[in-house]
Order: sequence, then structure tokens, then C-alpha cells
Amino acid sequence: MSLTMGIDVGTTATRAIVVRPDGHVVGAATVGHPPIQMPKAGWAEQNPEDWWHATIEAVRMAVERSGAAGAEIASIGLSGQMHGVALLDKANVVLRPAILWCDQRTQPQCDWITNRVGADRLIRLVSNPAITGFSAPKLLWIRDHEPRLYERAAHLLLPKDYVRLRLTGEFATDVSDASGTLLFDVVKRRWSEEVLEILQIDRAILPVARESVEVSGAISSEAALLTGLRARTPVIAGAGDQAASAVGNGIVSPGLASATLGTSGVIFSYTDSPKMDPQGRVHTFCHAVPRKWHVMGVTQGAGLSLRWFREQLGESEAWYARQTGADAYEIIIEEAKKIPPGSDGLLFLPYLMGERTPHLDPRARGMWFGLTAAHTRGHLIRSILEGVAFSLRDSIEILRELRIPVNQVRASGGGSRSSLWRQIQAEIYGEKVASLRESEGSAYGAALLAGVGSGIYSSVGEAAKETVKVLNEVSPHVGNAAHYDKLYGVYRRLYPVVRGLAHELGDIGQEPA
Ligand code: XUL
Repeated sequence: MSLTMGIDVGTTATRAIVVRPDGHVVGAATVGHPPIQMPKAGWAEQNPEDWWHATIEAVRMAVERSGAAGAEIASIGLSGQMHGVALLDKANVVLRPAILWCDQRTQPQCDWITNRVGADRLIRLVSNPAITGFSAPKLLWIRDHEPRLYERAAHLLLPKDYVRLRLTGEFATDVSDASGTLLFDVVKRRWSEEVLEILQIDRAILPVARESVEVSGAISSEAALLTGLRARTPVIAGAGDQAASAVGNGIVSPGLASATLGTSGVIFSYTDSPKMDPQGRVHTFCHAVPRKWHVMGVTQGAGLSLRWFREQLGESEAWYARQTGADAYEIIIEEAKKIPPGSDGLLFLPYLMGERTPHLDPRARGMWFGLTAAHTRGHLIRSILEGVAFSLRDSIEILRELRIPVNQVRASGGGSRSSLWRQIQAEIYGEKVASLRESEGSAYGAALLAGVGSGIYSSVGEAAKETVKVLNEVSPHVGNAAHYDKLYGVYRRLYPVVRGLAHELGDIGQEPA
């Protein structure tokens, strides 16, 4: 009875895995969500009920594939996409589709928060600036635009915490996920009474915030019937997807950072104490390790940029993949291998969903710069891989400014499966990039936190030591790194030059023709 389960409520899918104490994954299942609803440009919504249905199915399949009985799972840990706002009335009925992390509608609410609290004071109180991705502006958008619905709101839950409610009947979150709401005092690890008061948000709508390894409730009889898990199995608080993934990657001591390439891209580094960027370009959040913190930089459109290419321009690769059963992304990336580092001077800005680090600009737009008739499809693809890595280097540069030590970057997320993308990252960051035995990301970290919460491991550090193994490490090729350094010099100056034009273009695009 010492198996643990991690459940990650992601953006595109929910994944459940069953893990042995030595870290081996013995059963796993991923169940997709219906496509994100985008009722207007820049909006992104999802129905919380879809997370729950995907969870039931993923848990059942993962247990079945593990060959174990549901009753052999000792504890469950949750992780999930961060920042999303699910609002429930007092009968626990969901009031409207959840507004997701990547939704960009809330700049007016961010400006209002910044004016009302004050930019410096916001960093002092909640360690971060108001940006469209975070939860509080989304809640205020609902208050401004749907006041009658807002009045009926009795509970605000983040995505994994909605699933927790359905599993256990408890309203709870964890300190890492709470950090991304802009309502949480990250330094003191509790809700910020001061910010709640200034923004006039009722504390009662927020769940209790626990350390990630604490028990937050237990599987209810109803959830047991639906999932096949044993009733009363403890559910551990868990963590936001980034902190959970960092635990799964062993980013639990100084000097370690991870680069996660999922839909978004994230540079995540561990810190012993809260380290703030006065300009707020990176996020300072509580870590899933009790009494520790992390700093992370986020690029909105990492895997998303490659997926956009596959969907809009990669029909031939998708067709070939369907015929041969191969992976369309592998075929697409094969084309990039034929192109020299630097894509013969073609740069890609991956700001297809606005950008967080370092621009904090929801109106940022993507672009190819330097296109000539000599460039091929392969150049377009390679420049996407490079552009995403350049955008993550922006985050690494800020860590360097904050004097946060980075001795090794661990590759994680779907994009880390590509050896080419790992090599490109090593050369663009100028750091060694390691890959790990299990690259299960957030669900894996959630399962390890469940193991700590149920006493299988004595601490998060021990859990990582027992389970996380580095498989190999790529070092930057010195010549390529120097070439990329020069290109990065152009990359980092490019967006500030075109920012005003990008905004003007966006405004014109919204006018009727
Ligand atoms: C982190 C963030 C994303 C989402 C979706 O700040 O917005 O990582 O959690 O994965």
C-alpha cells in the first residue's frame, strides 16, 4: 500500500499517474479536455466540469494500467494549471466557465489594482505586480462586467482545487498556487488581508491555503465510487503545475533551475528566501518545499508556437504523421535539423498570446524578423525553436541580475523530448542542460508530494533524492553559443523597438473594416 498518485489538471488534458516509492511510474493515463473556448480574441475559458470528467477517467485508467487495486494507492497529490478562476455559488454550483491563465482581457483591472494599491506596495504586499495572467484581475473583471453573477459567488477555486472539492468536499489550495492569485502574502505564506481589504474582496470566498505536503482532505464515498479509489484515502494539498513540476525535476536546492517547455515555457529556480525583481518581470512565489520560495519567468507561447505552426502550416507533416503513425512534431523538428544554428539570420518572437517575462505585455504580438527569399520551411521551424529559447534566456538573464545561482538547467515538459531543442537551449542559455529519467512533470511532482504527505518520504528533498535521476547532460558548443549571443543581442532589442507598432496594429485589427 505504498503507491502514490499524482493528478495534474492541465490546460489541454488531465493526467493521472501511479508511482512506486523508488520513483518508477507504473501506470499513467491522459484524458484530453474539449478545446479552450475563445469567445473573443485574447479570451480563454474552460468548463470546470470538464476537468472533473477528465479526472475520473484518467484516474480509473491509470489505476487499471498500473495493475494495482485502487485501495493500494496510499495518498493522492494534486497539481494543475495555475491562476484560473472558477466561481461557485453557495450550493457549490459553477457560476460561469473558468477564466484561464492565458486569458488576456484584464489589463484595465490590472491598471486599477496598480493605481489603487500602488506598484511598489503591491510588490511589498504580494511580491508581484498586477498582470493579466493572475487570478485577482480576472475576479475583478467578473465583478465589473457580470455584477449580478459576482454577487452570487461564494467560492473562488483554482483549477486543481475545484477537482479537490469534487474528490473530497473540501475547499483548500496550497501556498504555491495561492501565490499566483495576487491576493497572497508570499513572504508570510498567508492570504493578504491588506490587499483583500483594498480591493474589497471578501476573504470568505477564498479557500484555506496549506503547505504543499499537508493533508487537505480525503476521498469521499461518492468520489470513491466514481474513480475506483478507496474512500478516505488522503489527498495532499499539492502545488501549482510549475512548483509541482519543479519537485518532479528535483529543483529543491540552491543552484538548480528547470526549463519547462509545455504550452507555456517556464524558467524555474529554487531560492532559500523570497527574492523579488523590483520591476516584477519574474514571479516570486512560494515553493512546494515548506518554507522555501521560487522565482520563475514565463513565456506565454512556447509549445503553443510550435503547435500553431503544426496546425496552420504543418498540414503536410500532419498528413504524413497520420499515414505512418509517426509523431507530427518529430517530423517537423527533423526539418529544423537541416538548418544551421541561428537559422541564417531569421528571428522569431513567440508572443502569439502576448508575453509575460520580460515585457509584461498582453498586447505583444509574435513576428518573424529578417525573412528573405532564401529562407525555407526548415528555417521557419528552427527559428521557432530558437525564438522560444531566446525568450526563456530573457528569464535566465533576470535570474543572473538577481544573483540567483544556476549551475544546471534541467529540461522538462513535452518540448524536452527533442534532443535538438535541448541542444539549442544549452547554446542559447550558455548553460549545461540535463534531461531526467522520468520526465513526467507536474503529475510526478504531485505524486512525490503525496508521498511526503503520507510519510513515505521524510521530506521533499529526500523524495527528490530517492527518485529523480539525471540521464544525460548536453553542454553548449562554444562556437554556436557565441553566435547565439550575437543574435540574442538583436532579439532582446527587437520587441522594445516595435512595441508601439504592435499595439497600434492590435488596435486597428479590432476596428471594423
Ligand atoms: C504559470 C502559468 C502556467 C500555467 C499553465 O504562472 O501561468 O504555467 O500554470 O500551465
